[in-house]
Amino acid sequence: MGHEITFYGHSAFKITTDRGLKIWIDPWLDNPQASGVEIDRDADLLLVTHAHGDHLGNCIEMATSASCEVVSIHEIQQYLLSKGLPNVTGMNIGGTYVTKGVAVTMTPAVHSSSIQEGHELVYGGEAAGFVVTLPGGKSLYHAGDTAIFSGMSLIGEIYSPDVALLPIGSHYVMGPREAAHACRLLGCKRVIPMHYGSFPVLTGTPEDFVREIEGLGLSVEVEVLQPGESCSL
Ligand code: NI
Ligand code: MN
Repeated sequence: MGHEITFYGHSAFKITTDRGLKIWIDPWLDNPQASGVEIDRDADLLLVTHAHGDHLGNCIEMATSASCEVVSIHEIQQYLLSKGLPNVTGMNIGGTYVTKGVAVTMTPAVHSSSIQEGHELVYGGEAAGFVVTLPGGKSLYHAGDTAIFSGMSLIGEIYSPDVALLPIGSHYVMGPREAAHACRLLGCKRVIPMHYGSFPVLTGTPEDFVREIEGLGLSVEVEVLQPGESCSL
């Protein structure tokens, strides 16, 4: 059995490795597409791309046990430690951190990041993405919230992710057209669209995304996961 990727709507994913390690990325489980998903208090790793509420999500509830290690940029780490979470590792863009047999590389993202604390906006560091390399060598790229940027070609060149999780909703992130060009830059053969349909302004659709990819003449497999659905890696 291989690794399994499960989509929970918006940008929330769980990766279950072939050895049973549970890795969550951007676990916003209160999102409009993930109704009734139980909070997983048994996660091994929890990766946060940036501090916006739709990505930090249910992190604080999920990571109350020291067996769940949160990995984020330094500023979010400091914030989460101040909230009493016991096991939070801070890193920064460009670096790789190896933990529990998983290599976590923090990539750039062109976006903003802040934490809403009542009426205050707390600085959340830079927005980021992750390349996650699993035991055995398979890797995935979760782009976080981002515009297209030319450095995606370097991400493809250096890490050759087996699958890319790309936002397509537009308005706050790439739309289908930009995301199709992102596939070209990454050279990735398999992509899972995310961050669409969950808010009314996120109007990009998988159909438009596929059309744009075809328009570029790329051979990319677009795997559209419904919330709750899984695929193998
Ligand atoms: Ni955001
Ligand atoms: Mn977002």
